[in-house]
Amino acid sequence: MCRRGPLAAAAAFAALVAVAALGCNPDDVVHRVGWFSTMRHQRSIKPYAQPIPPVPGTVPVTGAEPLMSLQTADRLVNLRTRTSESINRGRFLYETYCLVCHGPTGRGDGPISSAAGGPFFGVRSLVNDTIARRTDGYLYAVIVSGQVMGRGLMPIYGDKVRGTDRWDLVNYLRTLQAAVQSPRGRR
Ligand code: HEC
Repeated sequence: MCRRGPLAAAAAFAALVAVAALGCNPDDVVHRVGWFSTMRHQRSIKPYAQPIPPVPGTVPVTGAEPLMSLQTADRLVNLRTRTSESINRGRFLYETYCLVCHGPTGRGDGPISSAAGGPFFGVRSLVNDTIARRTDGYLYAVIVSGQVMGRGLMPIYGDKVRGTDRWDLVNYLRTLQAAVQSPRGRR
């Protein structure tokens, strides 16, 4: 014991020097060792990091989104090629935001519609021939502006689905439509 004393002290000192050399909070250093993580580091929302919706009327520093009409919408060009990456991203977004009303295959039969005992406030099919003939820009505009374009109870998703994610959603809607149009998927 007596003989190990100085050795242990030296080891402790070396550890302290190492922590000091890294120049950071010991808690963070400990966390770098995979099997030694602390409870403080977890996937919970940290204090002051709570997502708080912006005050109504707040405009992003990049400027406000221009209002879209059907005429301007039809002229929009899809920025995303229909790669599997884009479609997979679109499916994730669809399952997050749209499936609840429009249903897993886009027929307008999501859990909300079934719970209401029928089509919920006129949720529409996204896979019939009429909608399949619409432009990509039209689908984009409905996603961004919802009922602002006079679309009944379709909510606005422009504040939740942003950037190229919107085109990925459009690409996924095209995939759902193709599944219905193909002989195997037709019902
Ligand atoms: C709360 C239910 C609800 C959710 C969630 C929802 N929608 Fe809708 N959607 C509707 C309703 C209701 C309509 C029909 C609106 C109308 O024209 O009266 C509609 C219409 C549409 C149309 C136009 C269909 C047509 O025939 O012109 C598109 C495209 C569409 N939704 C896409 C989406 C996408 C993409 C999402 C997810 C980002 C989504 N919707 C989420 C309820 C919903």
